[in-house]
Amino acid sequence: MLTGTMLNLEAGFDTRDSPAQARTARGEFESDLIRALAVKPHAISPKYFYDAQGSRLFDSICELPEYYPTRTELSILSTHAGEIARQMGPRAEIVEFGAGSLRKVRLLLDAMQEPARYLPIDISGEHLVDAAAALKVDYPSLDVRPVVADYTQRLLLPAPGAGCRVGFFPGSTIGNFTPEEALHFLRNAAQVLRGGALLLGADLIKDPAVLHAAYNDAQGVTAAFNLNLLARANRELHADFELGRFAHSAFYNAPLQRIEMHLVSRRRQQVAVGGERFELAEGESIHTENSHKFTIDSLRALAQRAGFTAGPVWTDPNQLFSVHWLHAPR
Ligand SMILES: C[S@@+](CC[C@H](N)C(=O)[O-])C[C@H]1O[C@@H](n2cnc3c(N)ncnc32)[C@H](O)[C@@H]1O
Repeated sequence: MLTGTMLNLEAGFDTRDSPAQARTARGEFESDLIRALAVKPHAISPKYFYDAQGSRLFDSICELPEYYPTRTELSILSTHAGEIARQMGPRAEIVEFGAGSLRKVRLLLDAMQEPARYLPIDISGEHLVDAAAALKVDYPSLDVRPVVADYTQRLLLPAPGAGCRVGFFPGSTIGNFTPEEALHFLRNAAQVLRGGALLLGADLIKDPAVLHAAYNDAQGVTAAFNLNLLARANRELHADFELGRFAHSAFYNAPLQRIEMHLVSRRRQQVAVGGERFELAEGESIHTENSHKFTIDSLRALAQRAGFTAGPVWTDPNQLFSVHWLHAPR
């Protein structure tokens, strides 16, 4: 598990994850992968997609014609940035969960009145530090403090400043949690944001054909992203996955209102991880990700159960995606 390591860009940004942190993260990846292969049905957290290569592949997914969520959320944020900034008020600070390449926050920073501080949190440390350094070049007076951490764990953040503390959780990453995990995450976020607010992007239930295309792109980038979990295990854990022996599978599970991503064994095979061997049957899958879809009401009800009070919600003309302003409890 990564502890929250904060890097102060004011003091220079050559600090990477410490070797001790990297060892801990590798150990956690290895034990979770071994557990996933030992227990049926096989399933592992999607957080393991995201090493530097996984983050780059995710950026490529965001550019795909089939992948509507990124461009739709960007258009919503761009259209309503002024209104969102008014909700924040002057000298607000942003805590971004799963910040990735820090692209969306720029729309908020450009509209905000004297943004006080920006704390992007991400588990993909190298990618985060590089993205934060690039942001700092474009916003030299902004206090940028990247936090390399797992946001499902206890977060060590500095005390809020004088303005509103606003959580930012875009990309419908909330949908990667099970409903119970989402509630747990939101309850923790409510503590971190106490008295402030959460700006949350959530993908909406829609035509399954549109969803299917978004996770099965013609260029195979999503397949490469999915397979990166095994490639990463080979790189970091000296596992022996042969990538050609696994197929990317993504489909809409309508009763559970989620896209499921799996890696399906194309044949009967053995794989080795951490000195242990596992057998996979032909057609047996490793479940790598869920992307739950919401209605505006179901998302608001979930947030309310975690203690938030629903504020304004913004959508696009085709109602593909939603961005919610949620007041955190005091
Ligand atoms: C779906 S991407 C979204 C990226 C960006 N926020 C966007 O909207 O385009 C999820 C991001 O969350 C990060 N992430 C996933 N699980 C995480 C965890 N448990 N703790 C911290 N970051 C995590 C990934 O590294 C990745 O950058």
